[in-house]
Amino acid sequence: MSVPEPVALAADVRLSVADAPVPRTLADDVLDGLTAPFRELPPKHLYDDRGSALFAEICELPEYYPTRTERSILVAHAGDVARATGAVELVELGAGYATKTRVLLDAMAAEGTLRRFVPLDVSAITVEACSAAIATEYGTDVHGIVGDFLADLDLVPDPVGPRLVAMLGGTIGNLPPGSRRHALRRIARLLDADGRLLLGVDLVKDPAVIEAAYNDGAGVTSAFNRNVLRVVNRELGADFPVAEYEHVAFFDREREWIDIRLRATREHVVHVEALDLRVPFVAGQDLRTEISSKFTPARLRGDLAAAGLRLERLLTDPAGLFGLALCAPRE
Ligand code: SAH
Ligand code: TRP
Repeated sequence: MSVPEPVALAADVRLSVADAPVPRTLADDVLDGLTAPFRELPPKHLYDDRGSALFAEICELPEYYPTRTERSILVAHAGDVARATGAVELVELGAGYATKTRVLLDAMAAEGTLRRFVPLDVSAITVEACSAAIATEYGTDVHGIVGDFLADLDLVPDPVGPRLVAMLGGTIGNLPPGSRRHALRRIARLLDADGRLLLGVDLVKDPAVIEAAYNDGAGVTSAFNRNVLRVVNRELGADFPVAEYEHVAFFDREREWIDIRLRATREHVVHVEALDLRVPFVAGQDLRTEISSKFTPARLRGDLAAAGLRLERLLTDPAGLFGLALCAPRE
């Protein structure tokens, strides 16, 4: 009796981890950020395991319109996007738990084209969780990457056919304008002529609506923001008095971004043991943890053009709160 061939249904699940994992870049970032004229920490350090869980909670908050709005745009247009791109693989940058992503994967599966999902995120827990879940749910190959989308795009495998790269949630807006264009240029290199980028961008609107989304009544955003101080305390032996910082988020009307900070409520000196660094804070002193840029179509077109990309379609919700830009490489 012959042994049956293994059934080719089992999905191939791989994981790549960048050489310089985030905890190592944290020391350099903290040293730069706490000695700079205006104190600042890069947002990627917000997302340790606890931070990723808190962000998932933010996405469910009534005030936080971006997630549900972006999902509604995906629900309305994912079928069109899947058909128009003919994509066989989805590479998602800053995938997190890849919740909304399932709308796109469903559409690709319905088209019968879905072959591979490649989630990339600095947060290992989210990459591992969504890789396992999606391989099981969709029976598709998954190549998860734990890395930085600014530094580790070389870990993205070669395309297996027409590729769709997605960066959702307005994450591109968390980069300052120059880095944003630089990042888009690198992302554009992931695309062959038949590849497309689906970029989620939060749109300029009534500042009160924007500010509410970053100052929720339940205090989840405050806990998420202050979590970065716990990360620095734990990883670098620092002694930030976490409870004595308040969360501050306001819309900068000139730059059209949300400016997110932690404000010291009393004078103190922070000691960062691993860096042998002492940093004095006065009452009311700020540490910026993130910006979140809001886009106009003109700003979006400018950034895409600077990155060698062309806006094919800008999909929005009826109220014009959020945008999903389908972008093609310029021939
Ligand atoms: N795509 C999800 C999550 C958005 S939150 C959504 O739309 O809801 C931003 C995500 O990007 C987080 O999962 C965070 O861990 C990740 N991230 C932030 N900076 C990153 C970086 N430099 N490189 C890779 N991932 C990053
Ligand atoms: N990408 C999200 C955004 O720009 C990240 C985010 C939401 C965030 N709320 C936050 C970052 C609060 C820091 C603090 O909307």
